Amino acid sequence: MEPTIPDVTAIVSTILSVPVDELDPDTSIFDLGANSLNVTELAWRLSKAYAQRIESEDLYQAMSISGIIAFLSQRLQDVAVDRQKEVNALIEEFSVPFTETPRAKVTTVDAHLHSTVLLTGATGSLGSHILAKLLASYDAVAVVCLVRGDPLPRLRASFDQRGLDPAILDEASKTGRLQLLSTSSLADKHLGTTTTDYARLLETVDIVIHSAWRLDFNIPLSGFKGDIGATRSLAELCACSARRPSLNFTTSISTTFGVPDELVPERPLEPLAKYALNQGYALAKVVTEHTLYRLHTAAHQSFPLHIIRVGQLCGDTLTGFWSTDEMAPMLLASIPALRAIPREIGAPGS
Ligand SMILES: NC(=O)c1ccc[n+]([C@@H]2O[C@H](COP(=O)([O-])OP(=O)(O)OC[C@H]3O[C@@H](n4cnc5c(N)ncnc54)[C@H](OP(=O)(O)O)[C@@H]3O)[C@@H](O)[C@H]2O)c1
Repeated sequence: MEPTIPDVTAIVSTILSVPVDELDPDTSIFDLGANSLNVTELAWRLSKAYAQRIESEDLYQAMSISGIIAFLSQRLQDVAVDRQKEVNALIEEFSVPFTETPRAKVTTVDAHLHSTVLLTGATGSLGSHILAKLLASYDAVAVVCLVRGDPLPRLRASFDQRGLDPAILDEASKTGRLQLLSTSSLADKHLGTTTTDYARLLETVDIVIHSAWRLDFNIPLSGFKGDIGATRSLAELCACSARRPSLNFTTSISTTFGVPDELVPERPLEPLAKYALNQGYALAKVVTEHTLYRLHTAAHQSFPLHIIRVGQLCGDTLTGFWSTDEMAPMLLASIPALRAIPREIGAPGS
């Protein structure tokens, strides 16, 4: 949020208990009656409003409302430059050339009829529904799931929790349509599987659907290096596999909120941090999208790449199950406790 005279004046007015129209932006806040306690409170309120750590000392330097605005604008600009530098550095770091030797390309005549899908994130909201759909609706499709821990019990528990039928997992496992691999770390070059399993993936996979990602909106960009690395490892698998599988990466519309056009173009955007929400999660998706574009181009587009920007997922249309750590269920759950609802959902300050 850009600091403006009305917004900063409103905050100062509340703290000093002076009406807005009596506050001259160029007058020192100390001449307007501010004491050290007011300055501490003002620093705290501004820190919250502009998501920056602002100290009392900064306000003693800035003095007036205009001075505070100039200080905040400079601070936000410096932060934006640093954020962009971090994004660029991570794109560089993760788009270095692959080291795996590509397998000789095999052309499969009936790839659409008998495909093997490699799915990540199958224990999650989206992944479990993709898995259920693939097993229920596409008889000729085999699915390999990369799951942390003990895969079958974890998948069963996830299906159970979401009102999906776990019996289809047992049935598909018995017939071999569902193959489960435990991963120690997807960011590992061989996706945290054994050498034998990785070699089999290189020979058999036709489509990769990558839905695994840490859904945490509080950790910084640097905390997502594992997720970015995992996506790179999957791109390497696609570039070097005999069947040159397509990579379908699930990203998020949080990468595009700052795009100035009304419609977000369905093509690579500039890798600009200012297009993304100011959170590690969204910036990491920006880094990953652009790392993939680069790797795709460097590998002479040998593997098809699909970047899918997903909006807010809603609850299951049949069971109603909706993950309780999503924004909308959290908002609904807070209503009885607060006995209030926002006047305008999504409006500033609501
Ligand atoms: N939910 C939304 O509204 C929404 C909106 C836009 C985009 N998306 C995107 O859609 C995709 C799926 O989201 P979701 O809602 O299904 O998320 P979710 O329910 O939180 O599931 C996340 C999945 O990723 C797996 N995972 C996370 N970190 C991992 C790691 N380091 N190694 C291996 N697996 C890991 C989890 O496995 P464990 O069970 O082992 O933790 C789980 O299967 C994500 O890319 C997300 O960014 C979601």
